[in-house]
Amino acid sequence: MFMSKIIVLIGAPGAGKGTQARLLESRLGIPQISTGDMFREMKKADTPLAKEVQKIMSSGKLVPDAVTYEMVKARTSRDDCHGTFTLDGFPRTAVQAEMLETLSKELGKPVVAINIDVPVEILERRLTGRRSCPVCGEIYNIYFKAPKRKGFCDDHPEAELEQRSDDTEEKVKVRLETYEENTKPLLAYYRKSGRLETVNGDRDAEAIYKELESLIGTANATV
Ligand code: AP5
Repeated sequence: MFMSKIIVLIGAPGAGKGTQARLLESRLGIPQISTGDMFREMKKADTPLAKEVQKIMSSGKLVPDAVTYEMVKARTSRDDCHGTFTLDGFPRTAVQAEMLETLSKELGKPVVAINIDVPVEILERRLTGRRSCPVCGEIYNIYFKAPKRKGFCDDHPEAELEQRSDDTEEKVKVRLETYEENTKPLLAYYRKSGRLETVNGDRDAEAIYKELESLIGTANATV
C-alpha cells in the first residue's frame, strides 16, 4: 500500500523544484505546497508583514523561519493535504528542518527528501533567462525556450512577458549564496538519517519526472 508521505524537494534556485512539483500535482494529484508561491501571493496584500516579505524576497534573502513555518502549518492542515503532499522550497534552514520534524510527527507522515542537482552555470541561465506571461503564467526562457515573438506570450500576443524581480543577475547571485549557506547543509542532514535521494536535474524535465515518480513509490520513508 502507498503510505502517505511528505515529499521535500530540495535544490538550488532554478533547480526545477516548481516544475517537478507541478507535474506531480497535475499527473498524480499530489498537492504542491510552494512557499515561494505563497509568499508571492502574500506580498500583494497591503499589510506591514506583506511589505516586509516583499522587501526580503526582492533582496534574495530568506523570510524569517517563524513566519514561514506558520504559513506552512496552516496550509498543510487543509483537507487536500490528508494524503501525500510535496513541499517545494521548504525547509530551507536547519531551524525549518527541525520544525518539519515536529510537523511530520504531528501528521504521522514520514519525510522523503529529494535533491534535484544542477550545475551552477546552468542555474544562472535558467533564472536570469526566465520570463513569464502575466495572463496564463506560461514560463519561457530567453536562452532555452524563447517565445515566437521576442518579449511576448505565444498564446497572448498582447501580453508582455515579465521577469521576476529576484531573477536579475545581482539577485540570483545572492539567492545562490543564500542556498549554499543555509540550505545545502540540509542535504547532509537528510543523508545522515537515510532519507535523501538525489536526481540529476540537468536533463529534460520529463526524464527527471519519471525518476521522481519511481522514487516516490520506493524511497525509504522511515523517520
Ligand atoms: P522560490 O519561489 O521557492 O524560489 P527559488 O527556490 O529561488 O526557486 P525558483 O522558483 O526560482 O526555482 P525552482 O527550483 O522552483 O525552479 P523552476 O521549476 O521554477 O522562493 C522565492 C523567495 O521566497 C526566496 O528567495 C525567499 O525569499 C522566499 N522563500 C521561499 N521559501 C522560503 C522558506 N522556506 N524560507 C524562507 N524564505 C523562503 O525552474 C526555473 C527555470 O528553469 C524555469 O525557467 C524553468 O522553465 C526552467 N527549468 C526547470 N526545469 C528544467 C529542466 N529540466 N530543463 C531546462 N529548464 C528547466
